[in-house]
Amino acid sequence: MPSLITYAAIVATLAVAYFKAWPGIRAWWKDFNHRYRVTDDGQLIIPMGLQALRHIYQTLITHRFNQFYDIEWTALSPRYSSKIALNYINLKPGKNFKIDGDDAFYVEHYTYREMYDIVLRLSYILHTKYGIEKGDTVTMYFMNKPLFIFIWLALWNIGAIPAFLNYNLKHNPLVHSIKVVKPTCVLVDATDCEESFNESKQEILDAYPDLQVIYLKDFELLPIIKDPSSPEFRQSDKVRDAGVQAWHPALLVYTSGTTGMPKSAVNSWRKCFFAAYLFPVPMKIYETANIYTAMPLYHGTGSILGALPAFEQRGTLSLGHKFSVSSYWAQVRLTNANTIQYVGEVCRYLVEAPETEDERMYYGKVELAYGNGLRKDIWPKLKHRFGIKAIGEFYASSESPFATTCREENGTGVGAIRNNGWLADKFLGATIYTLVRMQPDDDNLIYRNKDGFCEEPHTGEKGELITKIWNPRDVKTTFPGYVNNEEATYSKVIRDVFHKGDAWVRSDDLMMRDGIGNIYFTDRMGDTFRWKSENVSTTEVENELLELDEIEYCAVVGCKVKNHEGRCGYAVLQTRSNNEESDEELKQVLDKVADRVITHLPHFGRPCFVRFDTIELTFSHKISKKRFRNPVLPAGPSGTQKVYYLDTKGKRYLPLDAESYEQIAREKIRI
Ligand SMILES: *[C@@H]1O[C@H](CO)[C@@H](O)[C@H](O)[C@H]1NC(C)=O
Ligand SMILES: *[C@@H]1O[C@H](CO)[C@@H](O)[C@H](O)[C@H]1NC(C)=O
Ligand SMILES: *[C@@H]1O[C@H](CO)[C@@H](O)[C@H](O)[C@H]1NC(C)=O
Repeated sequence: MPSLITYAAIVATLAVAYFKAWPGIRAWWKDFNHRYRVTDDGQLIIPMGLQALRHIYQTLITHRFNQFYDIEWTALSPRYSSKIALNYINLKPGKNFKIDGDDAFYVEHYTYREMYDIVLRLSYILHTKYGIEKGDTVTMYFMNKPLFIFIWLALWNIGAIPAFLNYNLKHNPLVHSIKVVKPTCVLVDATDCEESFNESKQEILDAYPDLQVIYLKDFELLPIIKDPSSPEFRQSDKVRDAGVQAWHPALLVYTSGTTGMPKSAVNSWRKCFFAAYLFPVPMKIYETANIYTAMPLYHGTGSILGALPAFEQRGTLSLGHKFSVSSYWAQVRLTNANTIQYVGEVCRYLVEAPETEDERMYYGKVELAYGNGLRKDIWPKLKHRFGIKAIGEFYASSESPFATTCREENGTGVGAIRNNGWLADKFLGATIYTLVRMQPDDDNLIYRNKDGFCEEPHTGEKGELITKIWNPRDVKTTFPGYVNNEEATYSKVIRDVFHKGDAWVRSDDLMMRDGIGNIYFTDRMGDTFRWKSENVSTTEVENELLELDEIEYCAVVGCKVKNHEGRCGYAVLQTRSNNEESDEELKQVLDKVADRVITHLPHFGRPCFVRFDTIELTFSHKISKKRFRNPVLPAGPSGTQKVYYLDTKGKRYLPLDAESYEQIAREKIRI
């Protein structure tokens, strides 16, 4: 038996060699794994694959996309029915956290079963009393509160489509937002938003006379829907499911997109599925998650990536009424949350706030903070100060069905929006989203090589993020786009990108890849800028200013302000008399401008700075903004421009000088 001995000898030699080389192999593997993140990817494959199969099964066999079914299943299962689904933390009337401490709050709890029963009773009211039917679009003008969630789920039960209005909007943008989705009714939060809704009510009814306006007061409605003897309504499954496809709208949220009035982005059932079941996998959001969010539910961040993952993973949603720096950690502590949601600016406020007893008590208890727009320099500060174990940054646009994710626990990917491993990166790049190079001299135009195709940018080079359309012949099945706005929908689609016949959706956001494939956000292009976590559309602000007879032309751009996140509005104005009015007359114009922007624009849309200048027109009679981009404060690059700032307290524009600018930078003057 020589051969057996030979084999044994070979195996023994290999084993010895292996053990001798072991530290080397281990070091090599560590290096390799750091670079290609094989372990990280490995953890994603099976759960993601299973969910993908489930979605295929839904699409091909059951056609049952409505997530009301999943919540119903949870509510009726013996295991979860008495688990808390929703905590809501609100100020007691007349109380102030700074004086009353914890006593200022009350926390409401709803188990899955309670929530489900409430939703059925509320459905009865919405369906029988207000006539809401399957297929109706229903706009909601609501602040964060349990009723928001209950209405949303009741509408899903009925088979209607909720559209979440931004409750900061008034007048034209609000009228437009309602009109564009052709709703059967608008539900108004009569406890918190009635006054501001009434301000625009007549304009809305003038534009849309058939609209039914329904005021709902929590303190009248809640006792009825909590009462077990109230009648319930559950839509028949046949009616609810009739004709529903994966790409049909599940709910509508608004985005100011890149130009013009707010557009209503369709969030399809498929997107909701991805948000509820795929997004939690790389983020590691499980049924143990108790997610505190004070982000407004009318944004996709709070609703689609906050409430949906919480409910569909059978965790708990802890809802705050509104973000507050001073009581933030008290609220998190009172709800016992282990996961918190942010948008970038919020983190800066938290990191800069004075230390509190609450945060000391809660140090180290938050497992994950996730959201979008966290700045690279704030990122580690946030983790260290509050002992947060992991950060989950994502990038998602209201229009696109996908989000990128970056879960950072041990330092890989600080500041990135995506930190998957090599394999996942290749897979996602081919099937979901990737970057394309821009023209060397113009960041707004995509580069095409001599064959007419786009290219991926090199490491460290900026490129626009684009999302793949799976079926280029039927764009809407992957990219449902905007409601009743074909032009805006199709203007986002580009074709023949990497080969003939493919189609992708542009994001208008510029990104960059580093050496190990992490992707970082760099810039936003075009005609919007972000201020106070909101998109501001320059056209919308311009249209508002042009309503004034005194203004001939205006150009609004985003402007960087020292020590402030994002860009604020900066308006360049040309009066009818070419700015040749006397100082006194110009002052009157400024007063009118101030009055106009304060009454007609949401706080984040008001130009914080204005200046008079001559505005050139292009050959196609568009105003040319190039010269005004990237304004320099306080007095322009030459130091001689006369700039005014919006004094929000006095509601007027005041001359800006070096000293007042310094105070703005130090937030002594708030803009
Ligand atoms: C708003 O309008 C409704 C109906 O016209 C009216 O009943 C209500 O009193 C108004 N509320 C406020 C705060 O003005
Ligand atoms: C801002 O605009 C982008 C790009 O159109 C969109 O994806 C995003 O959801 C918008 N955000 C808000 C708060 O409207
Ligand atoms: C991060 O580091 C900690 C401590 O070194 C370790 O326990 C944990 O497993 C690491 N997590 C990841 C995702 O590598």
